Amino acid sequence: MSKIILTGIKPTGMPHLGNYIGAIQPALELMKDSTITSYLFVADYHSLTTVHTAQTLNEMIHQVSAAWLACGLDPKKTTIYRQSDIPELFELNWILSCITPKGLMNRGHSYKALVQANHLTGKKNLERGINMGIYNYPILMSADILLFSADEVPVGADQEQHLEMTRDIAFKFNHTFKTDLLKPPKTLVKTKLLPGLDGEKMSKSKGNHIPLFCSSKDLRKAVMKIKTDSSDPDTPKNPEESIIFSIYKAFASKQQIEKLEDKYRKGIGWGEAKQLLYLLLEEHLSEKRKVYESLIKEPKKINTILKEGAKKAREKIAPFMRKIRETIGIGDQTPLV
Ligand code: TRP
Repeated sequence: MSKIILTGIKPTGMPHLGNYIGAIQPALELMKDSTITSYLFVADYHSLTTVHTAQTLNEMIHQVSAAWLACGLDPKKTTIYRQSDIPELFELNWILSCITPKGLMNRGHSYKALVQANHLTGKKNLERGINMGIYNYPILMSADILLFSADEVPVGADQEQHLEMTRDIAFKFNHTFKTDLLKPPKTLVKTKLLPGLDGEKMSKSKGNHIPLFCSSKDLRKAVMKIKTDSSDPDTPKNPEESIIFSIYKAFASKQQIEKLEDKYRKGIGWGEAKQLLYLLLEEHLSEKRKVYESLIKEPKKINTILKEGAKKAREKIAPFMRKIRETIGIGDQTPLV
């Protein structure tokens, strides 16, 4: 049986260059391997824990789907779907809730961080503003993974705890029902990081990001905002200390990197370095941007792809879901004809 790789993308709007280098590109590279079975889904119900405006959520779902498709995700090779189109996930979510110790969820880092924030801001009620979706988030994530018997799950370092919880929940289920039905997944931690405009890790919440797809003019404007020191153009520069260079390196060929390194050593003006980075990004992104723009104008096309993916995914997991029900003693157990 071929290895199953699965990952979920929580829609938070337009991806940025850091998402592209850290998540999109490596995942697409992995998914090219014809010996693996891959699933990629838009974790829209995970976003509902924090996004409570219908139009915003809907737009974010389309943006993230269009971005992955524009970057080259091939729906023939990778099954791409919307989490909300797989009702079995929410059934499994409940089943897993009924065997997950509450104490395990008390340790969730996102939940704990919110309690801590309430404490630090002097709130009397430490649970203020925390909904049950946030609290149960790791259980739904476990369902996402365990329903597809994923072998490996690529995620950012901030999701490692959720993967540990997924393994704990799988063991707990298997132990409770004396079965080995649920497969504990391995974590594949994303290692490629990109600095943002200020040199910190690029992230939307820090506001130091460069959007993956924006107009060429806005891309240039963003690049021009990258922090530099005040050294003049003739001063030799250390490429390893330059944010511009770090971003350039993530997109450039070996030859291009060597050429720019040489320019740094001889002395380069920051304006010129930024212009070179802008041109390189433009070269990488302009075709993809066109695809993105045309897709985003046709949400029906995106929806059709996601629906087809969901259909394939549901066909795949139907017998497994039936086995799970059988294992716990729920539902009509007459064999399928
Ligand atoms: N929680 C993940 C994130 O915020 C998204 C996600 C939801 C996910 N379900 C998943 C990732 C299942 C991997 C597997 O990035």
